[in-house]
Amino acid sequence: MQEKDLLQLFEKMTLEDKIFEMLQLSPVFYSENAEETGPYQHLGISPDDVYRTGSVLGIYEGAERVLDIRREHYEKHPLHIPIMMMGDIIHGYGTAMPIPLAMGCSFDPELVRECYHNIAVESTASGVDVTFTPMVDLVRDARWGRVMESTGEDPYLNSEMCKAMVMGLQGENGLDKPDAMCACVKHFAAYGGAEAGREYNTVDVSERNLRQYYLPAYKAGVDADVGMIMTSFNTVAGVPSTVNKWLLRDLLRGEWGFDGVTISDWGSSTGVITHGVAADYKEAARLNIEAGLDIEMCTPCYIRELKNRVDCGEVDIELVNEAALRVLRLKNKLGLFENPMRHTSVEREKEVLRCDKHMDDAYKMVCASSVLLKNNGVLPISEKSGKVAFIGPYVYTDRFCSTWSGKASTFTNKTFFECADGKGDYLFAKGSHRLGIEQEREAVCMKYEIDDSDREQLLKDAIEVAKQADTVVMMIGELYEQSGEARSHTRIKIPHCQLELLREVRKVCSKVAVVLFNGRPLDLREVDSLSDAILEVWLPGSMGAPAIYDMVTGAVEPTGRLSMTFPYCVAQSPIYYSQLNTDHPYNGNPNNRFSSRYLDCPNEPLFAFGQGMGYTSFEYSDLTVEPILKRGGKITASVKVKNTGERRGTETVQLYIRDFVASISRPLKELKGFKKVTLDAGQEQTVSFDIDEEMLKYWNIDMEYVADAGRFAVYICHDSTERQYVEFKLQEE
Ligand code: GLC
Repeated sequence: MQEKDLLQLFEKMTLEDKIFEMLQLSPVFYSENAEETGPYQHLGISPDDVYRTGSVLGIYEGAERVLDIRREHYEKHPLHIPIMMMGDIIHGYGTAMPIPLAMGCSFDPELVRECYHNIAVESTASGVDVTFTPMVDLVRDARWGRVMESTGEDPYLNSEMCKAMVMGLQGENGLDKPDAMCACVKHFAAYGGAEAGREYNTVDVSERNLRQYYLPAYKAGVDADVGMIMTSFNTVAGVPSTVNKWLLRDLLRGEWGFDGVTISDWGSSTGVITHGVAADYKEAARLNIEAGLDIEMCTPCYIRELKNRVDCGEVDIELVNEAALRVLRLKNKLGLFENPMRHTSVEREKEVLRCDKHMDDAYKMVCASSVLLKNNGVLPISEKSGKVAFIGPYVYTDRFCSTWSGKASTFTNKTFFECADGKGDYLFAKGSHRLGIEQEREAVCMKYEIDDSDREQLLKDAIEVAKQADTVVMMIGELYEQSGEARSHTRIKIPHCQLELLREVRKVCSKVAVVLFNGRPLDLREVDSLSDAILEVWLPGSMGAPAIYDMVTGAVEPTGRLSMTFPYCVAQSPIYYSQLNTDHPYNGNPNNRFSSRYLDCPNEPLFAFGQGMGYTSFEYSDLTVEPILKRGGKITASVKVKNTGERRGTETVQLYIRDFVASISRPLKELKGFKKVTLDAGQEQTVSFDIDEEMLKYWNIDMEYVADAGRFAVYICHDSTERQYVEFKLQEE
């Protein structure tokens, strides 16, 4: 629709019509559970009002159902304004990719973009127009269950991943295309900074740290022209994000030029009352609209109170006009006015959902995002492995999706047993359930039924199997329900019952590899002490089993590198690689008490950001950098990388920079680039990076984003633990 026609339609809308456009309904209104006394009363609307609302979230029943909803809505809407369908398609609609934290470990934005393009193709065919993805909250604390949805602890990596996801979802030819949908960057802002990793807890970071570490990935989404931003539950500097004028108006729209739609999180608009910054719905409605919130997700502030706030003169109607118009403009960009059914199609849905290409890309992503953390030669298995047994609850399940897997979790996928059985002289045993009675309280909270009745027998059978094996590959890890929203934990180890299984197997088998399924970094000290290899596969999605079988047998190589630090123990949290030096840096001398350290625990994590192995080895040499960078210019830094192993392999070469002296203390190193190189055995390649002034900028003592002249260190290496560097100078003239 032309803008002029849209404005003509807008002219016909009453204030109430506009406010309905700003209301998003929950799926209950489209089910038989919506009684008058329940949801309708909560919002203060009637069943007929449903056809006046702007959008609904969480309808994953497929194209046929969505077509019915769209048709009825369009026919019954007084002005025939089409409904917008939204949802949490976080890492797949029909084809589930690995979780986003895993995809961050791929360090492969191009593959990520392709995977998210596939998500858009499937979601659009099934009738979803907007997805609440990518979640780009920077995370540093494994106690927080939602680290699973992020791409990790680094601002640069998160920015690259955010851009790739937004471009994959939205495409570059307009949101009205059948392979495009609107992305929504969330949760704005800094939700990942929840104190103590406790869900929904206070976030209190300085503006400088907000800008330096937490905001870059959101801005990358805005720069990639994301259509929607979701506000977060938490406060930023004491003000809840959803009513934070500085955040939403001054920064997001003023400084960054965002002209898309803002949407609250589910309850974050009324949450401002609980935060204690609004007394009631009336005040919350005013604060929300003044801050620039366009769509209220599933709560009644706007629909109950906004009209009378305008009528009584407390709220300028222009604030409502601008918000409602942004919603209509997004619908227009999606092509909904030309085609209220958009590209929802039962035929296309059958054709694209879990099609070969999407499943192949999911397979590739499992291999690219799996991280080999340790390997004393036990992986890949081969004839040298002798008799191999696969033991653990993850041998027989196909539940490789996360708690944000919507439709994808309704499909059955191959189990590892189905992939491996008959392919070799293997033994198999389940050994334990994924969760045992020790975690009953947690299970009740997650509405997860624990069945421990056969625990003794499962363990006994597994030990018998392990005794017959020369090599055991354990397939163990978190229950997928243990990570995600509202799943903070202070114990970040694999379930007790599975640790018990690993201990017993280790007693009777001298070669043990662990394939680890989890949604967050874990305390792996005991797993590490009881195993010869650890392959981190996260929650690997629809193609988990086939890809894991091919990695474990060496047909393919895991090439992931950690996008988030694995702490030595939970007490180290929050922990991340880009630490400041402090004035008492610990030099590793155990007798040096007066330094920034623990007396009872190392400073170093168990596995660091950027770490990960493959099935070959690489050597770095001849690190060089041009010595002088002039403002406005660029210099080149290079290193030689050689494949010193016996098979072709892929290495993620990482560029880190340190600013030795600045007007504020700067991290010991920060990731500024990465390149994946694939080399044959014995092959050597020079890998180069351009360095320019933009990469050296930071928020200085005066809150200016600048680069200071002076000394800088350059690391081009395997991971963030590298100590060898070369120097260059940024010169004024
Ligand atoms: C949830 C989450 C948010 C999600 C929304 C809609 O509370 O915080 O990430 O997109 O509600 O389901």
